[in-house]
Amino acid sequence: MVALGIAASIIQATKLVKSFGKSLAINQLDLQVPNGISGFVGRNGAGKTTTIGVLLGLLKPGGGEATVFGLDCWQDSFQIRRRLGVMHEINAYPGGFTAKRLLQHVARIYGVTQADQRIAQLLAEVGLADAKDKPIKAYSAGMTRRLGLAQALLSEPEFAILDEPTANIDPLGRIALLEKIKEMNKDHGTGFLISTHILSDLEKVCSWLSIIDGGRLVDQGSVTDLAAKYSANVYKIGVSEPAVFLAKLQELPIVKKAWIEGDNVFCQVQDPTVFYSEIPKIASNLNLQLKNFQHMVGTLEEIYTRTAGGT
Ligand SMILES: Nc1ncnc2c1ncn2[C@@H]1O[C@H](COP(=O)(O)OP(=O)(O)OP(=O)(O)O)[C@@H](O)[C@H]1O
Ligand SMILES: [Mg+2]
Repeated sequence: MVALGIAASIIQATKLVKSFGKSLAINQLDLQVPNGISGFVGRNGAGKTTTIGVLLGLLKPGGGEATVFGLDCWQDSFQIRRRLGVMHEINAYPGGFTAKRLLQHVARIYGVTQADQRIAQLLAEVGLADAKDKPIKAYSAGMTRRLGLAQALLSEPEFAILDEPTANIDPLGRIALLEKIKEMNKDHGTGFLISTHILSDLEKVCSWLSIIDGGRLVDQGSVTDLAAKYSANVYKIGVSEPAVFLAKLQELPIVKKAWIEGDNVFCQVQDPTVFYSEIPKIASNLNLQLKNFQHMVGTLEEIYTRTAGGT
C-alpha cells in the first residue's frame, strides 16, 4: 500500500467506524485521497455512500477520524461543504424545472455571483446547452447525471465528491461523462473523488484508486502501482490513427484481444516484455504518432480475490 504524506491528502480517514444499529457499514476504514482525479471503488453495499455521508458531515462516525482539507468532517462540516462540490447518489430534481431554472435556484443558495454567465458556461461544458430549456423529466439518465455534474460544480469548488456519477448510463455515455470530468480537471484544476463499482471505467481517468469492501479498505494507490500489482496485461494506447494501429496489433501472436474504445486502442497481451518492445516499432513502421501508453489495473473481482476480500 502506498502511503501519502498528510499534506498531499485532500481526504484522510483513520480507523473510521460507522454502524447502523448492529450492522457495521464502515469497519476501521483507512482512506487517503490525494488531489487530482481519484476513484472510490467497491461493489454494492461496500460502504461508499456511507463513507461519503461521513465525509460530508451528514453522518456522525462511531469511531476513528476523518478529515477533508485537513478539517474534521463532523466538527467542521459547514466549512468543508462550502468548499466542496457534491453529486449525491440519488438526485431527485423537480421534473417540471428546466436545467437552467434548477441551476439558478442552486446558484442563489450558494450565493454564486454572475450566475447566468456561469450557468451558461457550465451547461455548455457538460453538453446540455441545447437542452437547457427542456423540463428535467424529459432528460435521459446520462443527461440527468451531466446536470448533476453541472450542479456540483456551480460554486466553482476546489474539489468535488461524486457518488456514482455514471449510474444507469450505457458504456459510451459513461466514457463521455468521465471525459468531461477529466476536462474539468485539466481546464479548471478541480479535484474529484468518483465512487463507482465499475473499476474499468475509472482507471481510464483516475490517477489514484481507493478500493473498499465490507466497509474496509482493500487496497489503495496510484493507478500505475495498482496496475503493476494486479496486472491483467491489458494496455491502453493513444495513437494518431487507432484503426490502422489496431489492424497491425491484431496480427501479433502475443496479442490475445484488441479493440477500440473512444479514441484509444486497448489490448490484452500474453507477454508484456515483447509487447513493450513491439509497440514503438509498429507505430514508427506505420508512421503513426504514439501519444500515450497505459498499463490497466485488473478487474475488481480479481483484486478482491487476490486480497482475500472476495468472500
Ligand atoms: N441508513 C441505513 N440504515 C441501515 N443500513 C444502512 C444504511 N445505509 C447503508 N446501510 C448499510 O450499510 C452498508 C453499506 O451501504 P452503502 O450504501 O454505504 O454502500 P455502497 O458501497 O454505497 O453501495 P452501492 O454501490 O449499492 O451504492 C450496506 O450493508 C447497507 O445496507
Ligand atoms: Mg452507494
